[in-house]
Amino acid sequence: MLYCKSFCQKLNLHRLRSISSLVQTKAFIDGNWVKAQNNEEFEVFNPANGAVIGSVPNMDPKDANQAVHAAKKAFELSEWSKMTAKERSSLLKKWYYLIEKNADELASIMSAESGKPINEARGEVTYGNAFVEWFAEEARRICGEVVPSPTKDREIIVLKQPLGVAALITPWNFPMAMITRKAGAALAAGCTIIIKPAEDTPLTALALVKLAEQAGFPNGVINIITTNKAAPIGELFCKSPDVKGISFTGSTEVGKWLFRNSSDGIKRLSLELGGNAPFIVFNSANLEIAVNAALSCKFRNCGQTCISANRFFLQEEIHDKFINLLKQRVETLKIGEGSEPGVQIGPLINTMQFNKVNAFVEDARLKNANIISGGKPLTNLGNLFYSPTIITDVPVNAKLYTEEVFGPVVSIVKFKTEEEVINAANNSNRGLAGYFFSENIQQVFRVAKLLEVGMVGVNEALISAAEAPFGGVKESGIGREGCHHGIDEYVEIKYVCMGNLKY
Ligand code: SIN
Repeated sequence: MLYCKSFCQKLNLHRLRSISSLVQTKAFIDGNWVKAQNNEEFEVFNPANGAVIGSVPNMDPKDANQAVHAAKKAFELSEWSKMTAKERSSLLKKWYYLIEKNADELASIMSAESGKPINEARGEVTYGNAFVEWFAEEARRICGEVVPSPTKDREIIVLKQPLGVAALITPWNFPMAMITRKAGAALAAGCTIIIKPAEDTPLTALALVKLAEQAGFPNGVINIITTNKAAPIGELFCKSPDVKGISFTGSTEVGKWLFRNSSDGIKRLSLELGGNAPFIVFNSANLEIAVNAALSCKFRNCGQTCISANRFFLQEEIHDKFINLLKQRVETLKIGEGSEPGVQIGPLINTMQFNKVNAFVEDARLKNANIISGGKPLTNLGNLFYSPTIITDVPVNAKLYTEEVFGPVVSIVKFKTEEEVINAANNSNRGLAGYFFSENIQQVFRVAKLLEVGMVGVNEALISAAEAPFGGVKESGIGREGCHHGIDEYVEIKYVCMGNLKY
């Protein structure tokens, strides 16, 4: 049995390498593919079957420091920050075309290490690459200002200058898009970068950097370090005066830790943290639209997105009908390994995530919530599969209600009035996304303004786009990504006062 497991694992690793020459086993610092200085490695697994699909360097702060120095040198000495905007834009475009050309390979790598169904992985490559394209275009529009002066002999000039070295710490749920959303903006602004991908999904990140190397970015402009010991590296980024900004997507807990640790240096932080998104269906809603939206919002990436609906609020008149329609659809979802054709739900990413989902459902069960569908692990498929689940009458003290489940669980609460549901939706220290469904135009504008979140989907749940500002309020983060606002995280505004001018 043991022999069989290790044989299958080798086969998987071999298979992935034969699918894609983009699978890398080293990190990239200052234009070189390198091992960890301590020679350590860690393995990357396919969450669907536990097979080892790669090994990458297990780096520590020494390597991170080397990457910081390379990025600093590239910022100061290479022409990167001084290149014309058009030159930076051209390199980003080259990267974009290479990603497009290798999209299927990137999707296969991503699906293998994240468990994401292959169609979703392919969708993420398109979505992620849209940020590279968008910021290639935005690079040429990072304009300063000339502001009318209060005196006749002065000009007030406002310059936008790149921040310097930016450290980009990214999560496993979107192994590509969370990198390009940060890297595209940082590079367009003229910053140099160090990427630290999540330990569960470093292979997609390394493949992306391989393509950036092919695009021809100067040495040291893009660096990537891999590790499964994130805290000491995060600390180095926080404390190093050479790192001028940190952009992080991940849990609120880690975001707060980065905030605290970088406070001494008053470092620029961009934080995209956890959510607890309300999904409100009013009596006037078009239920077909609302049910379709519920499926995509809740089950995309097996519920593992920061903007997944976490609390479903159904108005009493449509409550039962919505649940019946949703249940029929949920029970037809195809579950399995991401590479199998037609699969819509893959495994959860790791044991920690799996245990969390299981514990949250058990907590709701103990608190007398009603399990309408699912509510159990799918051990016949593997160790990390959990059934798509619908639970009603979720009490407000249940973990499913107060915390982000990050799994395929629909938690439902019934409500009577608009006022009641707005209060309930806003009664959270998170404020990333919120969704509501209504055909009443007065209600649409009222509720959109009242929800305390950074992003609102009205009769729509797939709201992410390179063109739109992504980010939250309250403890869901600081700053915005994507859109032209995404650039602001990577530039300093400098005021130049031109005085004693004689006109
Ligand atoms: C996230 O879950 O953090 C990102 C989701 C998205 O970009 O749509």
